[in-house]
Amino acid sequence: MADGHITYTEDNLTDAVIARIRPDADPRVAEVMTALIRHLHAFVKEVRLTPQEWEQGIAFLTELGRWCDDKRQEVILLSDVLGVSMLVDAIANRHDASVSDTTVLGPFHRENPPRMKNGDNLSPGAPGTPLEIDVTVCDQDGKPLEGAQVDIWHTSAEGYYDSQIGDGEAHFMRGRFVTGPDGRVHCFTICPASYPVPHDGPVGRVLAAMGRGPMRPTHVHFWIKKPGYRDLITHIFKDGDPYLHEDAVFGVKASLVTDWSDGKLTYQFRIPRQDAA
Ligand code: BEZ
Ligand code: FE
Repeated sequence: MADGHITYTEDNLTDAVIARIRPDADPRVAEVMTALIRHLHAFVKEVRLTPQEWEQGIAFLTELGRWCDDKRQEVILLSDVLGVSMLVDAIANRHDASVSDTTVLGPFHRENPPRMKNGDNLSPGAPGTPLEIDVTVCDQDGKPLEGAQVDIWHTSAEGYYDSQIGDGEAHFMRGRFVTGPDGRVHCFTICPASYPVPHDGPVGRVLAAMGRGPMRPTHVHFWIKKPGYRDLITHIFKDGDPYLHEDAVFGVKASLVTDWSDGKLTYQFRIPRQDAA
């Protein structure tokens, strides 16, 4: 070895890459990048990644980016099907049983849903089994909260969101409510269906290669916002759905599964104050 030069090897490369992070780098950047480099190198060593597999991986990541536009987010979808989205959510929303469970947002929320009031119909004229939604927004102690914004969205009886139907411009099977003094949101709609996550792209190929299906169990989405309180992004799932145990994005939690067999979805959401531990 020529004096002053070093040969990077399997044994010293990981530490050498980590050592290049400058001591004056932002501490969080240094922490995250150190762990990322360590885990990436450990992964390559564990599977003994071949140059051909490395090339395939690069081609896959490049393709993921190409599939993304304002209607399709293939990178988040990969995070979802690998359980990363739910892991981040679980860490960000550690709480006790007095607060409602969270789950993934998914790609089908829209910024400006139709404004609705109690008694309205989310899906006028849509074919399907009628479903009544009757939910209450409460604080951690069960006291109803006035002035909470509640966005609700779900699929058609065939398992499509409005943005997947026709030119995707019309808004239906969704609405935005604001709670009154009783904290209640009450509306009518039709029962959604289980449906596949978008699986015609690179993420679909990964699912198929692992022998996994793309289905999500039947659910209705809720996003609750109230100033001074933490946002609650969650779904309520239909008990008895055959896909509850094989949700493609691992979003199911037992506390969010309810019985709709009488045509009614009822739930009491409990949201914590912003500053709650
Ligand atoms: C959804 O529930 O809308 C959803 C969540 C994650 C990925 C795809 C869809
Ligand atoms: Fe959904």
